[in-house]
Amino acid sequence: MAGTGSQGSVKAEELPNSSFLWGVSTSSFQIEGATHSDGRGDSIWDTYCRQQGRVKNGDNGDIACDHYHRFAEDVALMQGLGVGAYRFSISWPRVLPRGRGGGNEPGLSFYDRLIDALLAAGIEPWICLYHWDLPQALDDLGGWENRDIAGWFADYAALVGRRYGDRVKRFATFNEPCVFTLFGYGFGSNAPGIADKAALHRAIHHVNLSHGAAIDVLRSCVQGASLGAIHNRQPCFAESTSAGDVAAALRFAEYWNDAFPHPQHFGCYTPALAEAMEPYQQPGDMAQIARRVDWFGLNHYSPHYIKADSNLLGATFGAPPDDVPRTSIGWPIVPGAFRDTLLDIDRRFGLPIYVLENGTAADDRIDDAGHVQDAGRIAYLQAYTGAMNEAISAGADVRGYFVWSLLDNFEWASGYSQRFGIVYVDYATQRRIPKESARWYSNCIAASRRLRFPATMR
Ligand code: FCB
Repeated sequence: MAGTGSQGSVKAEELPNSSFLWGVSTSSFQIEGATHSDGRGDSIWDTYCRQQGRVKNGDNGDIACDHYHRFAEDVALMQGLGVGAYRFSISWPRVLPRGRGGGNEPGLSFYDRLIDALLAAGIEPWICLYHWDLPQALDDLGGWENRDIAGWFADYAALVGRRYGDRVKRFATFNEPCVFTLFGYGFGSNAPGIADKAALHRAIHHVNLSHGAAIDVLRSCVQGASLGAIHNRQPCFAESTSAGDVAAALRFAEYWNDAFPHPQHFGCYTPALAEAMEPYQQPGDMAQIARRVDWFGLNHYSPHYIKADSNLLGATFGAPPDDVPRTSIGWPIVPGAFRDTLLDIDRRFGLPIYVLENGTAADDRIDDAGHVQDAGRIAYLQAYTGAMNEAISAGADVRGYFVWSLLDNFEWASGYSQRFGIVYVDYATQRRIPKESARWYSNCIAASRRLRFPATMR
């Protein structure tokens, strides 16, 4: 696909990293489908989708992008793009239908085939252990609220590490722990749909414990492992200058930005969260949580504008100022906040940074010529990779950038109504149509490779 784009000329900027990694990301529940095939167990998202009114249009993950059956085509698409890496997640209930106990061989061998296809295509596999699809059988036992889950998660990590660690070295424990705990246990707007402050705090602590336990297991069973977790960090601006909104923004940021990276890196909760987290801690927990990792995984789309609310956090999403543009899903477009976030992470954590999700939803349509002209997405990606390059020039140690997402897919409570892919999926036929942004990204990667450092396209 490289070289076929029509989006202007390539202008490279000299940047410090000569082996910059360009990739794409997806997650199991959002693309695989085949939820009832080959012995897979239910996940909490299967259950959540069955509950009336939870997911837009009553959508579910039963077919999604049918990636389970079409992975070879999808790997070929990635190869055509020229990406160096693919980040995907393992579906815990596909490999362990009841969450623990014996592994499910057909599910395990699906990921063997995927990994082997990626390696044959020259694409480095990056595995994320948990992208939100908890086995329902474990939720029935309390899910992330049950402290025993740290042991269940460690056993799952061992299964994955032992099975794939001969071919895969990059493992992330969790994707966006702040999102699935806050929305799943605090606001109830994601699976498993619980809205309870104590449940939220329990889940936060048990996810942190599980992270540390999985890091230990992966270190011991994967030779040469390169490990991390994937966090969102986003500036949380107050919607207004009122004291209530300012306090709400600070409180929201404690949960959003600090509930996970802070204990995982510094071995304690921030002062603002310490008291709330105290009841769930046992001696030795914080040392177990703060295990050495090799990189900081960042997902970033936009800053937040927060306002006071009567919910359990006293804070919710507000509106950006009128002059801030927004994407089709309503997220503000502020590339400067991305640059500042990268610099801030670099200063705070001192680890190599991989941007493991960035991208945008758009109202994509197939035109009469059969193309998808997504100029808005290209503008977004240009602006955000440009901001990343500014951060790198200013000294941030950013080693890679992965677009969310390879394919349009199941966007959680929004169902299929939001398209984030650089490849369009016609859900009726499962036909994949690379959008203009796929060509842009491919050209960007090719230019970067030729020049041996990251480039943006102007
Ligand atoms: C992130 C999620 C990912 C996807 C994008 C749009 O928060 O990690 O699964 O939904 O947002």
